[in-house]
Amino acid sequence: MNEQTTTEKQDGATTQPHSHPFQAEVAELLRLMVHAVYAETEVFLRELISNASDACDKLRYEAIGQPGLLEHGGALAIRIAIDADSGTLTISDTGIGMGRQELIDDLGTVARSGTRAFIDRLAEAKDAAGLIGQFGVGFYSAFMVADRIEVTSRRAGADEVWVWRSSGTDRFEVLSAPAEAAERVKRGTEIVLHLKPDAKRYLEANEIERIVRTYSDHILFPIEFLDPKAEPRQINAASALWQRPKSELKTEDYKEAYRTLTGGFDEPAMTLHYKAEGRQAYAVLLFAPSRAPFDLFDPTRKGHVKLYVRRVFITGDAQLLPSYLRFMRGVVDSEDLPLNISREMLQNNPQVAQMRKAITGRVLGELESLAANDADAFAKVWEAFGRVFKEGLYEDYERRDRLLALARFPSTKGEARSLKEYVADFKPNQTEIYYLVGEGLERLKANPKLEAARARGIEVLLLTDPIDAFWTAMPLGFDGKPLKSLSQGEVDFDLVPVIEEPAKAEEAAPAPADEASVVAAVKGALGDAVSDVRASQRLTESAACLVAGIGPDRELGRLLASQSRPPSGAGAKPILELNMRHALVQALRSAKTEAREDDVADLAALLLDEAYILDGEVPSDPAAFTARLNRLLVRGMATGR
Ligand SMILES: Nc1ncnc2c1ncn2[C@@H]1O[C@H](COP(=O)(O)OP(=O)(O)O)[C@@H](O)[C@H]1O
Ligand SMILES: [Mg+2]
Repeated sequence: MNEQTTTEKQDGATTQPHSHPFQAEVAELLRLMVHAVYAETEVFLRELISNASDACDKLRYEAIGQPGLLEHGGALAIRIAIDADSGTLTISDTGIGMGRQELIDDLGTVARSGTRAFIDRLAEAKDAAGLIGQFGVGFYSAFMVADRIEVTSRRAGADEVWVWRSSGTDRFEVLSAPAEAAERVKRGTEIVLHLKPDAKRYLEANEIERIVRTYSDHILFPIEFLDPKAEPRQINAASALWQRPKSELKTEDYKEAYRTLTGGFDEPAMTLHYKAEGRQAYAVLLFAPSRAPFDLFDPTRKGHVKLYVRRVFITGDAQLLPSYLRFMRGVVDSEDLPLNISREMLQNNPQVAQMRKAITGRVLGELESLAANDADAFAKVWEAFGRVFKEGLYEDYERRDRLLALARFPSTKGEARSLKEYVADFKPNQTEIYYLVGEGLERLKANPKLEAARARGIEVLLLTDPIDAFWTAMPLGFDGKPLKSLSQGEVDFDLVPVIEEPAKAEEAAPAPADEASVVAAVKGALGDAVSDVRASQRLTESAACLVAGIGPDRELGRLLASQSRPPSGAGAKPILELNMRHALVQALRSAKTEAREDDVADLAALLLDEAYILDGEVPSDPAAFTARLNRLLVRGMATGR
């Protein structure tokens, strides 16, 4: 059999109907699994058990409408068997099973979303086990320990049984199962791993038990261990931990439940466990991880709260929390919802809506008490998920004040400031909360628009996440104090006393009449490149800066333009503000007085270009910019100044 040269087309058509190439990314992933040497390979078992458990969940859900599906194949359970003679480890389940096409698609040709990102990360990561957990690389992780795998599966209620097999190279086969295999697998899936020589420790009973206890203790279905030297026995707790009273549970129990339920390898930064009683009865067990998963910014913004109805799994994303809390993981188990509630019906169910509201409120309440009582833990949550959380400032109008109070921001005074702290530190006569949105903290800190605030000791929030440009675009306030951008409209710091004289106030402020003539000269020179020119309240050191007039803040305008979604009021030219005390502006004034029109034009254009550069942009015409700069430099050198 010449596997390398058989093309896919011939393959699918006639020559080898049972042989299939892995999808390209899957093949790449497999190469990483097969060849790499990972310290912690044991996660493969958790992945296979979690798949088996999912399969049992799925069958139980389908059986609500078709009880006949449960007739053959016994109770829902997971079994693990070891055989030292053949060097095999077998994991089987009596779940939903897979038909031929599912074997082909799910175990070979459909790559899970996030596979690409995972491959890229794995190449540079030390902590492969953690990555595998976070991505749910799932089934393929078994190739870390096996050089050959056979999957025999019977879809619940089906007559046919199929075998999938592969050695983790570029191809896999799917064939009709031989009679004895079909006899053995009455329902569900049996996975036989032919262990690699260096993975023989997975043939030891103790080792298997330890791994199951560590990662899979809280799987809801019994995991039975078929020990060749003893009676078969159940090796997991198989209890719905969330149903047990809080008082019986220890931190360690929660940590284990977190690992089993979420596949996380970190420790939960926050745990919320309670039972609601009253209008509706349901149990809630939710965790905030301490690390962000890689798919946090997946465009689908899917949640990770599983919905159960009386211990029966219904769906992995019932949208029981708003999208901006999608980092929360865990379980909600309802006593009241109908078991046959379809996933589609969940959207419009008033009971679900009421649960969503109540649970969201509890999660925010828990975050609030974490912020108040365990600042370190809260900081972890904020660092990992603050960027997602801030989407709520934009989306959740009703809870905006609560969300703003929870939010933390870097500022000119610290790394994670709350608005409460900010307001407590108001300067005399300060009435607004100032912020600046832009790319990169270091660049923002150097932004000239901060100068006047700095001279007065006024704190400025420095917002660098893309989402910041959006939520700040709405009229917001905290504690009755409006939030105000330093790169939009006019700022008036006059009432706040200056605490340190600006270091480089090189010249005295000009008389108002001079000010007007400089402004008029620059306006004349720049024409419609700007919408207006005015003397600045913001600057003490730099010569000029740009601010937005009407319409969106400059940063939002830029973001939207880059996504080719020009905002309303876009195309509105920025306003150029001049620091009247700056030497360059004073030079322009002299040029004006002495009627050196070319110099006026060059200096005005240079001030505008500099302002663009300070905002992280490039001058609109770099060649003209350079020519102008050179002209002015040469002239300056020649006069020996
Ligand atoms: N024991 C099993 N029973 C039924 N289907 C399975 C089983 N194991 C794997 N599958 C199918 O293969 C798919 C891929 O599994 P996996 O790689 O672990 O990814 P995930 O569990 O994240 O979907 C599953 O989504 C499921 O459709
Ligand atoms: Mg899986």
